[in-house]
Amino acid sequence: MNPPQIYTERTLGIVKPDAMDKVVEIEDIILRNGFTILQKRKVHLSPEQASDFYVEHYGKMFFPSLVAYMSSAPITVFVLAKNKSIASWRELIGPTNPFKARETHPGCLRDTYGKDQTRNAVHGSDSFHSAEREIRFMFHDSIVEPIAVGQATKDY
Ligand code: PPS
Repeated sequence: MNPPQIYTERTLGIVKPDAMDKVVEIEDIILRNGFTILQKRKVHLSPEQASDFYVEHYGKMFFPSLVAYMSSAPITVFVLAKNKSIASWRELIGPTNPFKARETHPGCLRDTYGKDQTRNAVHGSDSFHSAEREIRFMFHDSIVEPIAVGQATKDY
């Protein structure tokens, strides 16, 4: 008889260009906070891909600079699993604005590593629907398998 399968909520985490020099440190924090890293990939998005990824913000004033920034250099994307991973990861990263994060969520990732609203170190899906969409976007239909801690990232 097959063992019972337990569904664990998944979310997408991104280490943005400004924090890529801290990716090992951030990965360590991810693991110490009880997340399992199911997939990890280093990618360099084209401007078109970054526009598609952030399509919900199309038309906002910051959209062009967000797209330019997110396609300016490589990022690392993670599929993270944990009970209530979406809310838990959002809590760990903190508010969009690192200055606000400093006041309301001291010690969160954006407090520690963020520089401003654009260069705010990390991203997290904000709902179940966007998590599924963003995971598919970054990992296509590849099978989600556990990866070893510290395993080298795939080249982009
Ligand atoms: S909104 O307007 O409330 O939906 O924006 P928010 O969800 O806070 O952030 C959307 C993403 O845009 C990036 N970004 C900015 N947000 C607000 N203001 C400015 N000026 C800005 N520039 C860039 C912000 O970092 C969010 O990125 P993600 O990757 O989703 O965290």
